[in-house]
Amino acid sequence: MEKLRIMSVFGTRPEAIKMCPLVKELGQRQEIKSLCCVTAQHRQMLDSVLEVFHVRPDWDLDIMTPRQTLSAITSKCLTGMDAAIDALKPDMILVHGDTSTTFAGALSAFYHQIPVGHVEAGLRTYDKYSPFPEEMNRKLVSSIADLFFCPTVNNKNNLLKENITKGLFVTGNTVIDALKTTVRQDYHFATDGLNHLPYREKKVILVTCHRRENYGQPMKNIMLALRQIAQENEDVELVYPVHLSPVVREAVDQYLRGTPRVHLIDPLPADEMHNLMDRCYMVLTDSGGLQEEAPALGKPVLVMRRETERPEAVEAGTVKICGVAQEEIVAMAQELIRDPTAYAAMAHAVNPYGDGHACRRITDAILWYFGRGPLPEDYLP
Ligand code: UD1
Ligand code: UDP
Repeated sequence: MEKLRIMSVFGTRPEAIKMCPLVKELGQRQEIKSLCCVTAQHRQMLDSVLEVFHVRPDWDLDIMTPRQTLSAITSKCLTGMDAAIDALKPDMILVHGDTSTTFAGALSAFYHQIPVGHVEAGLRTYDKYSPFPEEMNRKLVSSIADLFFCPTVNNKNNLLKENITKGLFVTGNTVIDALKTTVRQDYHFATDGLNHLPYREKKVILVTCHRRENYGQPMKNIMLALRQIAQENEDVELVYPVHLSPVVREAVDQYLRGTPRVHLIDPLPADEMHNLMDRCYMVLTDSGGLQEEAPALGKPVLVMRRETERPEAVEAGTVKICGVAQEEIVAMAQELIRDPTAYAAMAHAVNPYGDGHACRRITDAILWYFGRGPLPEDYLP
């Protein structure tokens, strides 16, 4: 029997971290030829992940330009995908999450009448402008996809409410599969400064920020809040790997650079980032992925956004939404820095996002779809 040609399409750092373990799992099954097409919506940040996970793409659209617009990303991906599909002839295309690459990848598959598997399906805020453009991207992909790999039962229920009833699987999130390969107690950082941070003597707070809906005033508030937290708490050190987006870098340079106890560094390779997270005191972020990773590592997270599509860890008590107003971010962070009881209440390892076997379940579901294996069971934590 001919091998099934399953093509994973991704382009940004978080998609790559969550899809590389799947590309590898697909490659280990004898019934499957695992193909990888990157759009390179991110260039350096994508290449770094590919290197960490030793994944070599079969096709690279190389679309990134500085300060790219949403229309440019989408149209370049769509055009570029035609040649990738013609050359690689996939039987199914897998996309991940909610980026512009995700939407364009799914739409392109539809234009070629190729079935689509959506990894990390069913996340919703029900606010079309927040996160922007991610909420609309993932809703549009839900209309196109044939298989839906939901990280949690809650995600599956979101899809059921939208009358999407076929091809739903609860698999856990592949980010937990990734974390299990990167985090080690004896990890030695290649970025030497990270080996010598005062993890025991002080409170090392890991920070990231990049969301488009936070551009402008919210990002200014966030930067000023970070500055205030560092200035008012001598026992903290903020470590902030700054996203390569020029918009983010400008805000950092304008409002945060030069503040004592704030370490502004370049984006870290995924394994360094995961191990830094494992050793830090807490996380301040507007990222999606960090809201999943940090709870699995028992680290409290304050989310610098107005809402989240990941309510599971909020319900479990490890994540809180602190909004985008300076005073509120500072107040909620200071509580965790200064009140050991408040900290202890959040710092317990809960893992609502999976058991590290999401990739196996997704691959089993794909084989089932093509009549090559039994129906896999849902993951129920
Ligand atoms: C994108 C995704 C967002 C995801 C985020 C993860 C969209 C619309 N947005 O947002 O959902 O949460 O990635 O980080 O799909 N840049 C570089 N080198 C890189 C990466 C980015 O220079 O390796 C710069 C470029 O100037 C680029 C800009 O950052 O134009 C913005 O990148 P883009 O992918 O458009 O948006 P993100 O904010 O990264
Ligand atoms: N990450 C990384 N290096 C960094 C910052 C983040 O490897 O310097 C990882 C992080 O651990 C998580 C993912 O990138 O796995 C999150 O990506 P990002 O915040 O860019 O996007 P989002 O998850 O918000 O879409």
